[in-house]
Amino acid sequence: MTLFRETWHLSRRFAGFVTARPLTPAQQEQINDALHGKLARLFFGQRHEDQRHGHEVASRIKYDPTLLQAALLHDVGKSACDLGAIGRSLATIWSASSLPIWGQWRTYAEHGPIGASLLEANGADELAVAFTRDHPGPVPEGIDPDAWRMLATADDA
Ligand SMILES: [Fe+2]
Ligand SMILES: [Fe+2]
Repeated sequence: MTLFRETWHLSRRFAGFVTARPLTPAQQEQINDALHGKLARLFFGQRHEDQRHGHEVASRIKYDPTLLQAALLHDVGKSACDLGAIGRSLATIWSASSLPIWGQWRTYAEHGPIGASLLEANGADELAVAFTRDHPGPVPEGIDPDAWRMLATADDA
């Protein structure tokens, strides 16, 4: 990723976070209908900004049932740390360096594997576990590349 693209991406994520509104009751109901009990609890355990992001990614893939758990829950590992917009941006910038990273910033940088373990323990589908663990990286072996590309595009939009 070029520096310009990284900066643009980070700025958009920052703006999306600080302007995110809580989901409406109708949107919450749509998600409750789409996820079984344990996964719905994980989803609604996220802060509202991350719920909003999951809903937006799911909307971009048109709530396709084969991609839905991955879209809604891929950032659930972020719930393991308590960082706001500035802390998240700093953690992202710091983790791009080769310097050691600790504490909440490390937890944030490792939200993929942390979330994947949570999803695996709560019965999520294989694609959701894989996408959560490895996004925004390349498609892992055994995973449908088209599904991966659609999710990656929706997550990055
Ligand atoms: Fe993520
Ligand atoms: Fe995301």
